Amino acid sequence: MTLDQPSFGAPAAPASSDPIDRVIAYHIRTKHHFDRYARSLGFLDWANQPDPFRRFEGAELIRLPLLNPQDDPQSPSYDALYQPGDAASQPLTIRTISRFFELALGLSAWKRAGESEWALRNNPSSGNLHPTEGYALLPPVEGLDLSPGLYHYAAKEHGLERRADFPSAQLTQLLAPFPEGAFLLGLSSVHWREAWKYGERAFRYCNHDVGHALGSARIAAATLGWTMLLLDGLEQNQVARLLGTHRQEDFGEAEPEHPDCLAVVWPSPNLQREVSQLPLGLDQAVVKELAAGPWHGRANVLSREHGVHWEAIDEAAEASWKTSEESLLVSLPIELPVHSEPLHASRTTSDAAKIIRQRRSAVSFDGRTAISSVTFFHILHRLMPQAHEPQLVRPMPWDLLPWGPSIHLLLFVHRVAGLEPGLYVLARDAKKLPLLQQAMNPELEWTPVPGCPNDLPLYWLLQGNAQRLAAQVSCHQAIAGDSAFSLGMLAEFEGRLRQGGAWWYPRLFWEAGLVGQVLYLEAEAAEVRGTGIGCFFDDPVHEIVGIKDLTLQSLYHFTIGGPVDDGRLLTLPAYDHLRRSE
Ligand SMILES: Cc1cc2nc3c(=O)[nH]c(=O)nc-3n(C[C@H](O)[C@H](O)[C@H](O)COP(=O)(O)O)c2cc1C
Repeated sequence: MTLDQPSFGAPAAPASSDPIDRVIAYHIRTKHHFDRYARSLGFLDWANQPDPFRRFEGAELIRLPLLNPQDDPQSPSYDALYQPGDAASQPLTIRTISRFFELALGLSAWKRAGESEWALRNNPSSGNLHPTEGYALLPPVEGLDLSPGLYHYAAKEHGLERRADFPSAQLTQLLAPFPEGAFLLGLSSVHWREAWKYGERAFRYCNHDVGHALGSARIAAATLGWTMLLLDGLEQNQVARLLGTHRQEDFGEAEPEHPDCLAVVWPSPNLQREVSQLPLGLDQAVVKELAAGPWHGRANVLSREHGVHWEAIDEAAEASWKTSEESLLVSLPIELPVHSEPLHASRTTSDAAKIIRQRRSAVSFDGRTAISSVTFFHILHRLMPQAHEPQLVRPMPWDLLPWGPSIHLLLFVHRVAGLEPGLYVLARDAKKLPLLQQAMNPELEWTPVPGCPNDLPLYWLLQGNAQRLAAQVSCHQAIAGDSAFSLGMLAEFEGRLRQGGAWWYPRLFWEAGLVGQVLYLEAEAAEVRGTGIGCFFDDPVHEIVGIKDLTLQSLYHFTIGGPVDDGRLLTLPAYDHLRRSE
């Protein structure tokens, strides 16, 4: 994007130079109101729809083997993913890397309607625009026929593009503090892809998508018996250096990528004790050396023209940039609630990879299907990051995030057998109950839910049919009311930002996206279907429970119920386009 492009509306310059005030100003500015949506073009500029597939022209593409579902004799059941130590750990090979990327960020299907055809992926994305790009930093691995370096994942080709060669010795040194066989996964966002449709609010959506991608990668890792941890001590410049997103010479006129995060992945299902010894950062001097390359490839241009440039997005990205002054190499463990109850019993025997591949967003619900309270409680349990005795292990995928829960749920229960319809709250950390109660209308009664397991801090606030209300506050989308239940994710907002720094802002969305990813898969396992909801009227949601300030803010909504498929769409297999050309 160039400077001479017109910018839209009032300049995004904030009144304060404090980064925390600046991200809060962005958040307030990008709220949807009943009478006014956040700024966007207001129409879709189809001629400039961004290409959802980034390529680096000139970089060597190494195709990953296309594996059939039956090629996975060791694929665990979906429920086994959540039982620590159950999945057998597989070594890092070209086949396991292939499986990892396929399940994390690969295609799940092609859809066709008339002349149009578009791909879906195993990770969801607002508007199916897919701003998230995936990278792997691979060390020298015996048996893995790839030279050490940085690779970009090309989802449509199911291949790895070699972006940079990194010397073995330095890469080995960089990964030395981590368990044997570790590699790094990197994520970046092309903000333009979401901004093209959603305008200023797009920075939020890109970060939801990062959270979903982190979740799908963590869960893909679990299918191979691997563990994954977000390297959240890293200064963001280091993420940029290792992913090459700062290399203007490789991007030129192409849409830039915002470096989001790096995570370490290693082949072991259950190294929880080791996790507490791991650093959450990387050796800065080695990162600098590695960034010298050599680098390969030039990013492709995704849209011919960009029309409007949304300065508010750059402003939020800049204000939330994690700088070196902020705490580096923080160590685990994080204080988490501990429960002595056993981990919850299995519910489905379905293969994990099958559940991952079949995940879809429902486009409408039947307004009839109910789920049982047992299923409802089971789904909520999966959202609890509590440690379990006797091993005190944090359940997958919450072991990925090196922080305690900051997202709680405001639930609109419509059709859960055995539960009164109405409004409920789930505190994902029981210690936060007073904070939640103080932020809401003091007249609300917090009634324990009959039949609810003791270790689920679920409270019933209001009785009544909330279907119309849920749809109304979700930008009038019927999917929020026709489901079995829907919810708003209430983030501990201003306190976290003021305490931790402006760089917490995207992280709150990452955690919300991760909650969403678990909900998507849980819905499939329960033989219903989910949909993420990024479009909602922010303050009208808060008013429902009397939230008057910025202590809590709803960041993302979700809905689960009995889906109605759109019969007009034709579904084609994910990688047929490659198999046909083989
Ligand atoms: C962060 C996020 C926000 C979303 N918001 C909405 C929404 O407001 N309404 C809706 O119908 N679908 C919404 N979706 C669903 C996407 O449109 C869907 O993920 C995308 O079209 C890809 O389809 P798939 O999930 O079936 O792969 C959202 C998805 C995500 C990840």
